Formats: sequence, C-alpha cells, structure tokens
Amino acid sequence: MTTSTDLFSVEGKTVLITGGTRGIGYMLAEGFLRRGARVYISSRKVEACESAAAQLAPLGEVTAVACDVGRPQDCEALIEEITARESALHVLINNAGATWGAPLDDFPGSAWDKVLTVNVKAPFMLAQLARPLLEKAAAEGDPARILNIGSIDGLVVPSFENYSYSSAKAGAHHLTRHLASALSPSILVNAIAPGAFPTKMLAKALEEKGDELREATAVGRIGDPDDIVGAAIYLSSRASSFVTGAVLPVDGGLSTTVGAAI
Ligand SMILES: NC(=O)c1ccc[n+]([C@@H]2O[C@H](COP(=O)([O-])OP(=O)(O)OC[C@H]3O[C@@H](n4cnc5c(N)ncnc54)[C@H](OP(=O)(O)O)[C@@H]3O)[C@@H](O)[C@H]2O)c1
Repeated sequence: MTTSTDLFSVEGKTVLITGGTRGIGYMLAEGFLRRGARVYISSRKVEACESAAAQLAPLGEVTAVACDVGRPQDCEALIEEITARESALHVLINNAGATWGAPLDDFPGSAWDKVLTVNVKAPFMLAQLARPLLEKAAAEGDPARILNIGSIDGLVVPSFENYSYSSAKAGAHHLTRHLASALSPSILVNAIAPGAFPTKMLAKALEEKGDELREATAVGRIGDPDDIVGAAIYLSSRASSFVTGAVLPVDGGLSTTVGAAI
C-alpha cells in the first residue's frame, strides 16, 4: 500500500461555518477558501454577513446566510437554504459560540440558557438538520465531517468566572463523542479545543491577562490563524478519515502541559 499526495486536500468540498463573520470562524473561512473549498458563513447580523462575504469573495466561492443558531427556526432556514443550493455538504463547522462572565454570587440563570443553547443545543440541532446533506457527501475513504469548536475551558478549570461557558464546552466535547458514535461511519465528528486566539470574544481577557496567558503557554505565544486552520483542514480532509470522537487541544500546550513541571 502507498500513501497519497492529496491527503490534506479540501479542494471542491462544501463547508458551512457558523459564526464565520469574524474571529476564529473568519480565520477558518479564509483558510478553506484559500485551499479551494466552497464556503458558507453565517452569523446573526445581516450586515456582518454581507461585509465578511465581500471581504472573502476575492479568495473563492463564498455565500453568507444570516442565522441566529440560538433560534431553531433560523437553523432550519439555514439548512433549507443550503439544501436548495447544494446536492451535498462535506463539512459542518459548529463554531458560533457565546460566553458570559460574572462572579459566582451574581451569575444569572439567563446566562445558562443562552450559553448552553448556543454552544451545545445548536450544534446538536444543526447536526440533526444537516445530516441528510452530509450523508450525501460521504465518500469511500473520505467520510463527511462535523467539527465542533469547543474550548480548553471545557478541558481544564479556567481562571475566569465563566461557569456556564466552561460547562457548555465540556458538554460540546462529550456531544462530539456521542454524535461520533451515532453517525459513524458515514459522518466523522471531532472537536477542536482552542486555547487563546486574538478575537473579540477574548479581547478583554487578553487585555487583562495577555502576558500571564503567554507565559503559561508552553510555546510562549497565543494562537494565530494558521494554527486553527491547520487543525481544521486536517480534521476535514482524508488525512483524518480514521479519527472520530476526538477532542484536539490547539492551545500551544496551555491545557496539555499544566502541572508538567511539578
Ligand atoms: N478566541 C478564543 O481564544 C477562543 C478560545 C476557545 C474557544 N473559542 C471558541 O471559538 C469559537 C469562535 O469564537 P471567537 O473567539 O471567534 O468569537 P467571536 O470573535 O466573538 O466571534 C463569534 C462569531 O459567532 C457569531 N455568533 C455569536 N452568537 C451567535 C449566534 N447566536 N448565532 C450565530 N452566530 C453567532 C458572531 O457573529 P454575530 O455577532 O453577527 O452573530 C461571530 O461571527 C467559539 O465557539 C468560542 O467559544 C474561542
């Protein structure tokens, strides 16, 4: 048996990225477009969708569809829209996420409803809705993929008081394993648990604790677009067709080397 040279190709694949208008989702959209994939991005704000799609358009075929993943009717409309345009969906990336920070005594119940809905319920609903379209993309030796963007906050206890977020991300990781078991072998389901990346979601944390975070990270820096794109391309290409139910930390060692020196 020989190995092939196109192991990491995503060329010609159709990819849906929720929350693709900024931050990690936008980095992923750019990375997939540069490698010849056709990309759908979505987020709540129509203007953000239009402006991100216009910026990305010179790189390839990109379509933006507004969708609040916290609203089941929006999730249905998003998948209906893609079903009307595409015969198959190769990769669903559940990237849209929401967080909440507050001291334990003041942490509101509403922060549980919102954060669990966006980070756990929505990825499940989108997997359920997109399943027929994903099944159609499944090929011999290269199954369709679902990629959930979790967080290292779901792997280790964070220093920030984001109780519903850390719990939701741990839930998203376990949902990944459960869906991997249910949808195999035609759809592989994996998660990436990012460490610190410079996005709007992390802006305040980086401002307050950026140096601390860099110091605590084995490789001594925060993440850049190639770090997250490299992992997502691997988990969307034939290179990972024997991998499902995995949660891959992409964090420069922030979660994986904790306590290593003790
Ligand atoms: N940045 C990090 O260091 C880091 C670390 C670990 C994990 N993560 C995870 O990575 C993912 C992306 O985070 P990010 O840092 O890139 O965040 P971000 O900069 O805040 O971007 C979030 C994206 O999701 C969209 N979004 C938010 N709520 C949504 C909803 N209800 N429905 C649809 N779209 C929604 C936003 O657009 P609209 O506002 O227009 O909806 C935006 O496009 C999240 O799952 C996050 O938990 C990030």
